[in-house]
Amino acid sequence: MSAAPRDRDALKRAAALRAVAEVENGMVVGLGSGSTAAFAIAALGERVAAGLKITGIPTSEGAGALAYRLGIPLTSFAEHRRPDVAIDGADQVERRTLTLVKGRGGALLREKIVASASARFIVIVDDSKLVDQLGGETPLPVEVTRFGWPFVLDRLAALGCVPQLRGGSEPVATDNGNFIADCVFDSIANAAVLDQQLAAIPGVVENGLFLGLASMVIVGRPGDVEVITP
Ligand code: 5RP
Repeated sequence: MSAAPRDRDALKRAAALRAVAEVENGMVVGLGSGSTAAFAIAALGERVAAGLKITGIPTSEGAGALAYRLGIPLTSFAEHRRPDVAIDGADQVERRTLTLVKGRGGALLREKIVASASARFIVIVDDSKLVDQLGGETPLPVEVTRFGWPFVLDRLAALGCVPQLRGGSEPVATDNGNFIADCVFDSIANAAVLDQQLAAIPGVVENGLFLGLASMVIVGRPGDVEVITP
């Protein structure tokens, strides 16, 4: 049985607190997007108020605005090419491989840049996100250019998914000014191959598969947190 929303929030918060315990004075921290990452930003804000010295690189305008409100000093890639750690949520985590699906919040492009640039990438989820195989009901978000998006969606469908433009007749624009195609695959058996097939489509800016990036996955469960490493 799945947990009620308030209980789920408690699991997300528990995972976020465990991740924030990894942050030390002087670090540059990638700040993730979404509700679970927001718990981590809030916890970081409390530690900053108590004297912790860090700077943050946000993965979305929303994450940046939250961090700013909480007094977390922000920086950018112009000053720091390699954040010490990034902390972010996920829509799915494949237990066996720690491959992720991300992007339900539409921030996958910046999230993937920050995760790839960081020395460590800590993923925080509640236990509903842990799966044996990616795909199914959770769509794979793909960021696509505005120009030619119907062509891009046809090419995505040819890979065996049902793609839907996020927002339909009023498409949602990402922070980068692109659109999102939510692609429902029955299952994703070979994420590495799919990642390459997606990258080969003209007009695909980035996709929500995060392969080989997670250094640690922290799973909030009723009563405890599970820490999984590759
Ligand atoms: C945003 C993301 C989020 O990390 C992901 O959607 C999880 O969000 P939440 O913690 O709200 O479930 O990838 O682009």
